[in-house]
Amino acid sequence: MINFNKFMVKIMRVLLVGAGGRESAIAEALSKDSELYVVAKHLNPGIRRVAYEYGLAKETDVQKVLDLALKWGIEIAFIGPETPLEKGIVDTLEENGIPTVGPSKEAAQLETNKAFARALMEKHEIPGRKLFKVFDDIAEMKSWIDEFGKPVVVKPLGLTGGKGVKVVGYQLKDNEEAKEYAKALIEKDGRVLVEERTDGVEFTFQVFTDGKKVIPMPLAQDYPHAYEGDVGPITGGMGSYSCENHLLPFVSKEDYEKAFETLKKTIDAMRKEGIPYKGILYGQFMLAKDEPKIIEFNARFGDPEAMNVLPILKTSLLEIAEGIVDGALKKAEFEKKATVVKYVAPKGYPTDPIKGVNVEISEDKIREEGAKVYYASIDENFRMLGSRALAVVGIANSLEEAERIASAGIKHVRGEIFYRADVGTKESLEKRVRIMKEIRGE
Ligand code: GLY
Repeated sequence: MINFNKFMVKIMRVLLVGAGGRESAIAEALSKDSELYVVAKHLNPGIRRVAYEYGLAKETDVQKVLDLALKWGIEIAFIGPETPLEKGIVDTLEENGIPTVGPSKEAAQLETNKAFARALMEKHEIPGRKLFKVFDDIAEMKSWIDEFGKPVVVKPLGLTGGKGVKVVGYQLKDNEEAKEYAKALIEKDGRVLVEERTDGVEFTFQVFTDGKKVIPMPLAQDYPHAYEGDVGPITGGMGSYSCENHLLPFVSKEDYEKAFETLKKTIDAMRKEGIPYKGILYGQFMLAKDEPKIIEFNARFGDPEAMNVLPILKTSLLEIAEGIVDGALKKAEFEKKATVVKYVAPKGYPTDPIKGVNVEISEDKIREEGAKVYYASIDENFRMLGSRALAVVGIANSLEEAERIASAGIKHVRGEIFYRADVGTKESLEKRVRIMKEIRGE
């Protein structure tokens, strides 16, 4: 008699929490070699197709997520967004025997508490630091800003969905306005973070870590402003690109090594503090005149940046996830391809988005153009829910070709929408290279 059992490969039951564009890319990667279970507050039509089961619950409802995970017999979990990390979802799942990719509540403070992150960098003399101070006293804050004399950045300490940070010269006219805003934050939250403003060009550096080993992903650059030419309100990110050499045109190998050192030293410092950090660490850097400086850390993949790196990941994401939770992370290899992600948002996003309106999407035509589509804030009836609705992604041997593919694909999305046609274009890259050269006096 043939023993079929010996040929059977055990398929792991994996839970994914979240259903935005970032989670669509995570879902695609995980579902290649696992049975995927999803919990999110809305039914993402793309994730639904690759999920074995899909439960509707708020991502921050930790008890509900746990109940579903136990019911489904989940063997490993993957947390997409930051809000459940702040609620301690990793601690709860792990206390109940479910190893989870993502930092504990305490370790997630790298993102959820900006004062914690800055103090850690200071204590461990991690490169890429900025001059900063945390205030709970209004008079002290005002005199510090006056004495400092140069433009500042004012930040709430906690999560604000990208909306709370204000920079002199951009959202704030001058240091007088900065003082008013900082005062309002002290009155509201009790504390505020004030930092020196650093001029330069921002970039994203994401790594996988098991708490000790740190594996880099290709660099990416996000387009946070709503409108073309980098103007308009700050959004979650209207698109992003990455290059086939995994660097960016304005980031040298030396800059890259310095930024990588910052991330490695941060992971080391967390371990030394007895708060081991595991999962994905996202360094949002500002490439300044002298070195890359940390603007902030995120304790998860970037959105849209996850859609740059995961479609070109050659190593199994499940294998990486197992390495992260077992403390035995080995490798993560990426194809030498360029990628361009263009997000489609409802008209009025981010300040006053229209909601509940249908978008017309021809997935077949998008695919014929060679592009991929990832759904985000959109329901099973293709009605937009108010945030970024879907992303179209071009992947190719060169950035120019990846951009061409994404642009051709996005034309097959119609409705009361807008997107930034300039994401990843030659002109927009040249602008960034020029700014960097000017700052460095080259
Ligand atoms: N793209 C910015 C973020 O993920 O926070």
